[in-house]
Parts: sequence; C-alpha cells; structure tokens
Amino acid sequence: MPNVHTKKGVLLDLPYKFNGFAFEFIARSKYDNLILVRCEDESFFLSLVEKDEKFLIKADKLTRPTNVKILQDAMKAFVEKNSLAITFSTINSKKNHLKRRSKFLKDIKDFIGFKSKSDFEIEIGFGSGRHLLHKAKENSQKIFLGIEIHKPSIEQVLKQCQLQNIENIMILDYDARIALEVLESNSVDKIYVHFPVPWDKKPHRRVISRDFLEVTLRILKRGGKLELRTDSENYFRYAYELFLSLNRCDFSVKKNINIEVSSKYEDRWKKMKKNIYEINLTNLENSSKKEICEIEDFDIEVDFKRIYKNFTNKTIKKDGYFVHFENIYKIDNNSGILKLSFGAYDRAEHKYLLIEGGRASYLPNRVLPIWQNRESNKVVATYLKGFLDE
Ligand SMILES: C[S@@+](CC[C@H](N)C(=O)[O-])C[C@H]1O[C@@H](n2cnc3c(N)ncnc32)[C@H](O)[C@@H]1O
Repeated sequence: MPNVHTKKGVLLDLPYKFNGFAFEFIARSKYDNLILVRCEDESFFLSLVEKDEKFLIKADKLTRPTNVKILQDAMKAFVEKNSLAITFSTINSKKNHLKRRSKFLKDIKDFIGFKSKSDFEIEIGFGSGRHLLHKAKENSQKIFLGIEIHKPSIEQVLKQCQLQNIENIMILDYDARIALEVLESNSVDKIYVHFPVPWDKKPHRRVISRDFLEVTLRILKRGGKLELRTDSENYFRYAYELFLSLNRCDFSVKKNINIEVSSKYEDRWKKMKKNIYEINLTNLENSSKKEICEIEDFDIEVDFKRIYKNFTNKTIKKDGYFVHFENIYKIDNNSGILKLSFGAYDRAEHKYLLIEGGRASYLPNRVLPIWQNRESNKVVATYLKGFLDE
C-alpha cells in the first residue's frame, strides 16, 4: 500500500484544488486524521497520522480507490501543495499521469436491480483472472461479472480486458458475500468459486457459508449452477456439510477432474500432487422476488457537539446484525465523522457517516439495501437522536 513519510509541517487550510484533485476537509481524531479527496471519478480519504514531529500519509483502507495511480497522484499532490519534506516514500517516482477509471470497473450500485439480457455468469475471487478471461473470450454471447477484493489482481485483470478488447466482462471491487445480496432473484446462470481461501483459523471469513448458499439459491435461475473447486480437504468437507443442509437443490461431487482452463493456484496444487475437489450445485426452483430493503435517509436534526462529547467505542449486538461505533473525527465544533461497522456478523460493512449542518449522511457511498443494513441503520438513527445510551 503506498505511503509517504514527511517531516511535520503546517498544513494549509482546506478546501483547495490542486493537480486535478479537490481536497475538501480534514477530520481529526485521537489516532489519525482523514482528508476527503475528490477527483473526476472518485471520492476517497487520505489518512494522515502525526507522530514525533513526522507525518505518515497513506490510503484509508475503507475508501481506497481501486486504481492505485489515482491514490498515488492524490498523495503527491497533497504533499506538494503543503510543501512537506519527504523523508521516505513508496510511491513510484516516475511521473504519473492521472488515469481515468476503467470502463470495465463497475460500482456495487450498478447491480441493485440488475437484470442481464444475455446469460449471466459470475466468478468470485478470480485472482489472476485466467479462468474469467478465458470464459469471457470463449463465450462472447454471455456477460461475465468478476468479483474480487484484492486490488492488484483487479488492476491486472482490468488491464487485460482493455488489452484483449474483451467487451463482455464487468469487474467489481467488493466483498462477494455482500455483493450477491443485492442481485435480483433468478437472475444468474452460473457462479464459479475456484480455490477460495480456506481460512482454517478464521472460518467466519470464508466465502462459502450457510447464508451465502441461501443467497446463491435465490439469485440462481432455475437450473442455474454453482461450481466450487478446492484443494483443501478440510474446506471441501466443511462445504459438503453445508450443501447437505440445503433444501430444493441437487449437488454432485467430483475428484481430480480437469476443467477447460486451469488457474494459477490449480497448477500449483497439481504440481504438488494435491487432490482437487469439486462440488456442483444446481438450483431446482424459482425463488420469490427479492425483498425491498429501502434504507431511509436520516431525516433528523443531529447535534454533533453532543455526540462528540459523549462518544465511546461501543458495539450494539442484535439478532443477526450489529453496529460498532468505532471512532469519531472532528472537522470543526459542529461537524465531523463517525466511523462505523455494521450489518451481518460475518459480512460487516464499514462506513463513514458525515455529520454536517445538523444532518447525517454516509460518505462517500450509501449503504447497500440489505435487511441487516436496514436494521443496523435504525440503530444508528436511534443513536443519532441520543436515545441509545442505555
Ligand atoms: C486462493 S485465491 C484463488 C484465485 C483464483 N480463483 C484461482 O483459482 O487462481 C482466492 C481469491 O479469492 C479472493 N477473495 C477472498 N475473499 C473474497 C471475498 N469475500 N469476495 C471476493 N473475493 C474474495 C482473494 O482476494 C483471492 O484472490
């Protein structure tokens, strides 16, 4: 992750515009500071940590843009504008040209209510993209969506889409476990999950879970399929138990069967003579329409001063969802930012809530319309009104 260390300096008052970026405000907390940056296609925070007469400027993990060049250019512009003396930097010293967002890179909002006219297949955790790119090239009549969280892999595959002129691919930088929830029922023909991280020590981070499979059955068309391949016997046994617990589906197991294209991981495991397990699930029924989970805007007067004065780090746990009030940042006496995580226990969303002029709104993105978020949002509303101190 790019970062720049500088000598401590006196920061200019915000807002200002410089080298294609708008630097809008700085919000300060006990631990770090957030600087809101906007450019043509993106809004994100830079994080600035002050320590021992030094500044450390880095990306904010929650809002970081997929294109690392945009981030690096924003960091350079901030340092240059404030005439900060660099002591160490991991930023590429070559002159960067601000790159536009790739047309293949989509936003999660694009998939709310999305219905593809052509056959629609999804690959979760595509890594090097070998399988995804191959499938898209071989099946130009179908639309493919690749979902990944590893930004360098996403950047590489975006480049390949451009270079190979592959028009039927969409890429989404999002946790697939949350992303699938927004898709329409009966809208997907096939889902590939190839060699997911086994997470033996942190099973709650696994892609496959009971909830994930329920959502999969909902979004798959009748006759639609999920293909899971893994080299981990432990993961296979875990997944097999979950598949067994499902209703209204059909599944089969294969062992050491090759598919048309072998991924990077698969090649490695084959060289090591590991077994490759495959589970194929077929959905047998139509599902009912997706529940509409409108998330209400906060139509209330919010007193930032009171919230700032009383803030403590705390977690509210409910049945099926939670809200964690993690940190608070002050922009000025009447405005600031709450850092929150909330939603389903195994698929938390992390968000910033800007409180300004007595109003609260999520920044830079809204909250996805899924029921755990809707319920969490109600807890946040109660908190903002000042009724959550019991
Ligand atoms: C072991 S790699 C396998 C990559 C590729 N499928 C292959 O076979 O070479 C697992 C990939 O899943 C991605 N991943 C893990 N959790 C994810 C999630 N919740 N949503 C989307 N991608 C995820 C990781 O970033 C990683 O690239």
